[in-house]
Amino acid sequence: MKVLLVYDSLFGNTEKVAKTIAGELSKVATVRLERAASLPRLVMNDYDLLVLGGPTHRQNASEAVQKLLQASAQGALHGLSVATFDTCYEMPRWIRMVSGGTAADKIMRGLRKLGALSATRPKSFLIEHNNEGPLLAGQLEEAERWAASLAKTYTPKPVGQRSQRMKRAL
Ligand SMILES: Cc1cc2nc3c(=O)[nH]c(=O)nc-3n(C[C@H](O)[C@H](O)[C@H](O)COP(=O)(O)O)c2cc1C
Repeated sequence: MKVLLVYDSLFGNTEKVAKTIAGELSKVATVRLERAASLPRLVMNDYDLLVLGGPTHRQNASEAVQKLLQASAQGALHGLSVATFDTCYEMPRWIRMVSGGTAADKIMRGLRKLGALSATRPKSFLIEHNNEGPLLAGQLEEAERWAASLAKTYTPKPVGQRSQRMKRAL
């Protein structure tokens, strides 16, 4: 499996999360880790999965991530599986809902417009109520768990555990 993991980070918190996710996915996949600002646009190449994340800025993705999405051609990611994450303040869910959500939701919306398919629900990792962070205790472990569950979706199961339909197809 080939994974492209793209992230943005102003103060380094999202970078820590991105590197943790990359480390976990590397156990089952070849992972290319890139900063959003270093890519001119998103293309499929032969990736099986794109993971895109960044800090939440004004209930949206950061400028570098927005630019990357805008520079990518309509339909450029047709059929590609994608997962999105962000870092954001901890706040009660209802306040989050009324205040407009977080970057991961907006990034997922942008990726779907490019034709991508959601592999899992957008995920937020929490920082202290302070722009610079740090991440709340346990968030890197949470990132490991999230990445492990994402990896499981893509790791081929041993033959004995495959569905009857899949076995018939082999
Ligand atoms: C300009 C700006 C706007 C922000 N707006 C939000 C926001 O709307 N909601 C939120 O939860 N956090 C907001 N934050 C806090 C960021 O989520 C926080 O800086 C980020 O998670 C830290 O990640 P980083 O270290 O990778 O930059 C904002 C931060 C900045 C600098």
